[in-house]
Amino acid sequence: MKITSAKFIKGIVEDDALLSDGTPQIAFIGRSNVGKSSLINVLTNSSISRTSSSPGSTQQINIFSINDSVYFVDLPGYGFARASGIGRQKIGDLIDSYLFHATYNQKKVVLIIDANVGMTDKDLSMFQELENHQKNFVIALSKIDKMTQSEFHKKIHEVKNMVGDHNVIPFSSKKRTGIDNLVNEIFN
Ligand code: GTP
Ligand code: MG
Repeated sequence: MKITSAKFIKGIVEDDALLSDGTPQIAFIGRSNVGKSSLINVLTNSSISRTSSSPGSTQQINIFSINDSVYFVDLPGYGFARASGIGRQKIGDLIDSYLFHATYNQKKVVLIIDANVGMTDKDLSMFQELENHQKNFVIALSKIDKMTQSEFHKKIHEVKNMVGDHNVIPFSSKKRTGIDNLVNEIFN
């Protein structure tokens, strides 16, 4: 699928009827600062999602309409200890209820892992929860422009070992590498 239009619809901090309107949803989840919002901007060839060099920038669930037929759901990051705004506990609950306690039309979840850091304990528990709930998800390794070839091979091997049969797609929003692969995976 080619993305031809992308619009910000709304940001929510609790359940919202919009999420239950039947539109298929693709959600982006990962540690704070891992590059979720940057990826949405690259995928949509726009700057509709706010990014920041300090973690904890997305504090709500931001919903974008893609081609007037799919929602991209930009979730707040997990694992940021000093979350201000609505607060860390509430952010955790918001992510949890979106992903695991609702009956939305979730088509795919994109779990983003920082390739330079590898899978942290929090990433691993998110991965396991997605598996336990039998979610349709893909693992994307971000910021590969920041590493050497040998670091890249080592990390990708490490992550693949941890996730079994799941597809792992390396990408860089900065250099726009791996984006086509990710689009194919997301919409297939
Ligand atoms: P939260 O909303 O806080 O959870 O963060 P996020 O996951 O949405 O991250 P965001 O897209 O705001 O990016 C965080 C920082 O990483 C920013 O400074 C981005 O410029 C940087 N960044 C994102 N993607 C890349 C990438 O592919 N390469 C490099 N080098 N930096 C990146
Ligand atoms: Mg963000």
